[in-house]
Amino acid sequence: MDRQAIIARTQRILDCIATREPDEATRDWIIRETVAGFRDHVNPGFLEYRKSVSTDYTAVEWTDGGTVFRDLQGREFIDCLGGYGIYSLGHRHPKVVKAVRDQLARQALHSQELLDPLRALLADVVADITPGDLQYTFFTNSGTEAVEGALKLARLYTGRKAFVAAARAFHGKSMGSLSATGKAAWRQPFLPLVPGFVHVPFGDAGVIEKVLAAAEAVGDPVAAVLLEPIQGEGGVHVPPDDYLPRVREACDRHGALLILDEVQTGLGRTGALWACDHWGVAPDILTLGKAFGGGVMPIGAFVGTAEIWQPMIPNPMLHTSTFGGNPLACAAALAAVNVVLEEALPERAAELGAFFLHEARTLVARYPRVAVEARGKGLLIGLEFVSDAAGYAVARGLFQRGVLVAGATFNAKVIRVEPPLTITREELEHVLEVLAETLAEVNAA
Ligand SMILES: Cc1ncc(COP(=O)(O)O)c(C=O)c1O
Repeated sequence: MDRQAIIARTQRILDCIATREPDEATRDWIIRETVAGFRDHVNPGFLEYRKSVSTDYTAVEWTDGGTVFRDLQGREFIDCLGGYGIYSLGHRHPKVVKAVRDQLARQALHSQELLDPLRALLADVVADITPGDLQYTFFTNSGTEAVEGALKLARLYTGRKAFVAAARAFHGKSMGSLSATGKAAWRQPFLPLVPGFVHVPFGDAGVIEKVLAAAEAVGDPVAAVLLEPIQGEGGVHVPPDDYLPRVREACDRHGALLILDEVQTGLGRTGALWACDHWGVAPDILTLGKAFGGGVMPIGAFVGTAEIWQPMIPNPMLHTSTFGGNPLACAAALAAVNVVLEEALPERAAELGAFFLHEARTLVARYPRVAVEARGKGLLIGLEFVSDAAGYAVARGLFQRGVLVAGATFNAKVIRVEPPLTITREELEHVLEVLAETLAEVNAA
């Protein structure tokens, strides 16, 4: 290690961070160093994988605000990917930024020993806004940790071992949540995962009823059924209307807990504050993440009823996280909840999502050689194409026209449209125009 060189290099980077408008030489330096850093020290695979380097220039993101972000060359993109769901409030919502700045001016992280106020105040708010009688919250740094905690709590409370999850589900990639995730490519290299998981097709309540009954009959009853109310990463799948009510009823009948993973669907994304509100179903444990940090800080949580939380109370150190629930993240989440409700973002998502979906369906019908279907709820929308290649070509065409979308992580056949819920109708109209142009181009190719 050359100590002086590292001090000089980190100082140069700190100067870049402090620069609002880097000059041309600085911009070129950042772009060059970013590509080299990915190639030599992050993972060169990203240079193949990312749309931003597969176009005719290299897009390195630098600034953002509202519904757009800009690259270092000043090109502007409407963000219809929404960071896979983190930007429900848009980029750097002023109220969230202010809350984090105000907190930072007093204290950044917590002592780990005294009572930290924001965790308690946020947990109280979470109890008020979550469905049913959910009351206690444990804060995490990510969605996967929220799912880990939920799984542990379900085993702790029920004393049972088995879990039911869905094929195509996405719950994260740490060992426990990956055990529930339903995609072979991500699970197989890491087998054996946590034992006790059974995967069933999503949307078929009858199968879950049968699995719960059979598990009970053979003496290995199910601790919990873990589901996304609407599958996101799996390609945006909305279940039939009787699905969640029947699963809820079956869980109650067999003494299994219902864990709903609203890491992606929570806080208004689907046109209701919680996706499970669409069907009037409350879980025993709810997980959240992504938009919970207001697009500014990382924070997740699992929330349970007072009854289920009982075994956690005698020893609160049973499940811990050094950074989970830190004051900066809690400040961001408190502001996020405030903004979601004050700006009526669930209602906006319902209205704008219905408009976009209707228009997208008309477009899709015009190009049957390219597109199969538009589906979704609120502003969680999936566009399915005839092949991975067609889906990729459309995503690329949109990117070239200044609109960012992404393939669902299960296959490139489904593009996700998941913009900030603060997006305007005019911006969505523009996105639809660009989509129409792109579809015509891909259709003609
Ligand atoms: C439903 C759901 N659960 C869990 C996760 C994992 O969250 P994270 O990537 O923050 O660990 C995701 C991420 O996409 C998700 O969509």
